[in-house]
Amino acid sequence: MKVKKITFLDTFPVRSAVLRQGKPIETCFFLGDDDAETTHFGLFNDNNLIGVASVFKVQNENIEKNNQFQLRGMAVLSECQGKGFGNVLLEEICKFAIAKNAEVLWFNARENAVKFYQNSGFSELGDSFEIPEIGTHFVMFKYFVV
Ligand SMILES: CC(C)(COP(=O)(O)OP(=O)(O)OC[C@H]1O[C@@H](n2cnc3c(N)ncnc32)[C@H](O)[C@@H]1OP(=O)(O)O)[C@@H](O)C(=O)NCCC(=O)NCCS
Repeated sequence: MKVKKITFLDTFPVRSAVLRQGKPIETCFFLGDDDAETTHFGLFNDNNLIGVASVFKVQNENIEKNNQFQLRGMAVLSECQGKGFGNVLLEEICKFAIAKNAEVLWFNARENAVKFYQNSGFSELGDSFEIPEIGTHFVMFKYFVV
């Protein structure tokens, strides 16, 4: 098992299968995917890409910290879920953020993934909110510098 940097285009097959099921492939593009400051990660098992996640240099105005990073598009292929792969990917993302001197990593978490992130020490910020066509989300975050 290996986590490697990949391009935003490389993320599309996994984003499409897990996060944008039945939707046109264009919906797999996130604004900022092609920014120089955005980093995309792939989790490989036997050289097969089974998980993806991306880190954007984006501030959340409700969080009073500097040097914030946003996690987006975290997904593990359905047949590979529940086997610890998501944890491996999330740990690598946290290491990357810490290496960049991030004070906080935050993201909009799907309601059904909140427990997964809580397991890794992330907390919800505020009330849930709806993202049209995708569902109920919570902002979640973890501070690296207090
Ligand atoms: C959320 C996701 C990335 C987690 O990856 P994963 O490989 O399935 O997670 P892991 O197997 O590493 O799980 C780690 C731990 O979290 C738990 N967990 C995983 N998904 C969970 C869920 N949806 N609800 C509750 N607990 C969950 C596991 O039981 C495991 O607990 P343990 O360490 O006590 O055994 C993956 O399930 C996924 O892609 N889901 C669909 C897309 C999605 O919701 N993405 C997140 C968008 S915010």
